[in-house]
Amino acid sequence: VAMLTAPKPLAGQRVLVTAGGTVERIDPVRYITNDSSGKMGFAIAEAARDRGAEVTLVCGRTETTAPNGIRVVKAESAAEMHEAVMERLAATDIVFKAAAVADYRPLHRATQKMKKTTDQLSLELVRNPDILQAIGEWKETNGGKPFVVGFAAETTDVEKHALDKLNRKKCDLIVANNVAEAGAGFGSETNIVSVYGQGGLVEHVPQMTKRAVAERLLDIVQADVKGTVK
Ligand code: CTP
Ligand code: CA
Repeated sequence: VAMLTAPKPLAGQRVLVTAGGTVERIDPVRYITNDSSGKMGFAIAEAARDRGAEVTLVCGRTETTAPNGIRVVKAESAAEMHEAVMERLAATDIVFKAAAVADYRPLHRATQKMKKTTDQLSLELVRNPDILQAIGEWKETNGGKPFVVGFAAETTDVEKHALDKLNRKKCDLIVANNVAEAGAGFGSETNIVSVYGQGGLVEHVPQMTKRAVAERLLDIVQADVKGTVK
């Protein structure tokens, strides 16, 4: 009954969430990835769905199963995620860029399983496209939409790096977490984040479940997008 009567403040809003770590293939059986579990992104997607939004979840490698009532788009590599996100931007009102995108991918991807021959092996890596940066640039030439929430995973100087990313990638908000802190970051059931906007710190969210963090983030976004979306 509570669910049926719950207010739907995001009704009519199209929300795109990216979650999980990207997988960058070396050969058919080996790859580079990271410790992202996808839990933060999934929690945001579920919270937005429950507030009435039409949610698309673009996900890389995750430990979580696809939630009901959410359109799930699989994207293995950063390149695939880049394409999946860009082609949906025109039909998106709010983006949450929670995925842990690999910064580099192997320069060459072997089509057959690599054989061991030498005692040493170097793997040459090349930079991946920065999807969040591309969204920020797209926005500038497309009427300032969608509203963009970036994330920053840091282990030192969290505020400094987060504000730098906010400005460089032209996000509306950036959600920073210290991934080395107990109770926060990759794989954890809880998170501790600080949300920054153009004017500096918006809110420090103390340790709570990722779902509760998601609800706080949606409250902040709803207050911010009022009047700018639709
Ligand atoms: N991001 C992205 N595409 C990339 C790298 C990062 O879209 N190729 C996004 C992430 O999804 C996140 C934000 O950028 O929303 C910050 O990611 P993070 O790894 O913290 O920052 P980087 O800009 O990659 O900088 P660095 O890893 O050097 O700290
Ligand atoms: Ca990175």
